[in-house]
Amino acid sequence: MAKPKKRFVCQACGSVSHRWQGQCPDCAEWNTLSEDVPATVFSQKHDLSSGGRPIEFVKLDAPSVPLERRSTGLAEFDRALGGGLVPGSAILMGGDPGIGKSTLLLQAAANLARAGQDIVYVSGEEAPGQVRMRAKRLGHADAPIRLASATGVRDILTTLGKDARPALLIIDSIQTMHSDTIEGAPGTVSQVRGCAFELIRYAKENGCALVLVGHVTKDGNIAGPRVLEHMVDVVMSFEGERSHQFRILRSLKNRFGAVDEIGVFAMAAKGLEEVANPSSLFLTGRDEPVAGSAVFPALEGTRPVLVEVQALIVRLQSGATPRRSVVGWENSRLAMLLAVLESRCGLNFSTAEVYLNVSGGYRLSDPGADLAVAAALVSALADKPLPMRSAWFGEVSLAGEVRPVSHGGLRLREAAKLGFTQAFGPEEADDRVSGIAYQSLSILPKLVDRVMAG
Ligand code: TYD
Ligand code: MG
Repeated sequence: MAKPKKRFVCQACGSVSHRWQGQCPDCAEWNTLSEDVPATVFSQKHDLSSGGRPIEFVKLDAPSVPLERRSTGLAEFDRALGGGLVPGSAILMGGDPGIGKSTLLLQAAANLARAGQDIVYVSGEEAPGQVRMRAKRLGHADAPIRLASATGVRDILTTLGKDARPALLIIDSIQTMHSDTIEGAPGTVSQVRGCAFELIRYAKENGCALVLVGHVTKDGNIAGPRVLEHMVDVVMSFEGERSHQFRILRSLKNRFGAVDEIGVFAMAAKGLEEVANPSSLFLTGRDEPVAGSAVFPALEGTRPVLVEVQALIVRLQSGATPRRSVVGWENSRLAMLLAVLESRCGLNFSTAEVYLNVSGGYRLSDPGADLAVAAALVSALADKPLPMRSAWFGEVSLAGEVRPVSHGGLRLREAAKLGFTQAFGPEEADDRVSGIAYQSLSILPKLVDRVMAG
């Protein structure tokens, strides 16, 4: 048999090289290449056109069985999943360390176990005592979960193969798992991929839902190969600022449901509490008008969430390079908006430091936030507060036009519900909502005029 050729796999993006390099040629990360041994090399049997079993073709219009779903007992978790756990599905849950993944899963596991389901929770990171302590804190010490501390996938699958099939298997985390059929330390691409493959196969064959916890690297990707995301049915990300209370569970991929629904939680002393009505959560609720603050009616799936965007502009005396610092929004988006404000509206930010913050630890991803950010920036620059109880939304183009965004009416209705009386946005004639005076701003210079007018 031919000697397997050496190959090196980037631990960040999964790309394959045939020699070791300091920098990955694909994703440009440094020191991420490590040797990967192909599991088997077939030198013969190259011809795949014979010797296989016949596959069975089915009709597309065959009667479909409605998806069975199991509630996790947490409505916000179910919502992000698209209606509950689907038996036999594999879910990858990513998130920063300490954000609350283990807490969320233990709570869901306890609810399911109390409802009579057989739940297996395998922790590769914590000793049973630690998990028990967490369960006690959550008030779930007596939930009949099968808990184990293990890292060997063979041990786990052998044990589960002998026992009854669980309804849910939680692996916390996939990076700690190890398979003795694969070379390499736990956490390497080949180990992560190989362990996930075996666990997913077990889940599919036994109709058991599987949750794999995945660590997240500093740039926000799930550590190890991106291939993991292709292998599972659902990819979820648990987000939030650790210093803030609020957590958002987002599904980034879902073979069984929509991907734009979120679950909102608050981390409290007794675990994660569900926030059923998050729309006013990220507002500061102050009564005094402040320059540099604008409220944006964001949309999360079908749910509106009002968030406050805060800008601070500090004029520099010296010729030092001014800082641009953003929390909760994209840096590149801010740079673009500043450039548009400079070139289309004649404003000058080049000698000023610009700080932008989205309140409550919320992360804006809705493109309709542009107008609110622009309003906050102009208001901060002019030191003129925006009208009280006003909401701002619209996408800004490079030409300085204010473009329409989806569900204007929904955004306005939620703003009206929370006592907002004015809204500024793109020219859309049909989205009028009673109780809100709507003003359209077709181009950015009109925004500047409006803010200057006070
Ligand atoms: P954890 O679930 O261990 O995070 P992850 O598995 O994502 O790394 O949660 C860690 C944080 O949550 C920890 O800093 C303490 C906090 N926490 C609470 O505030 N209340 C609680 O009831 C629990 C269990 C944790
Ligand atoms: Mg954990």
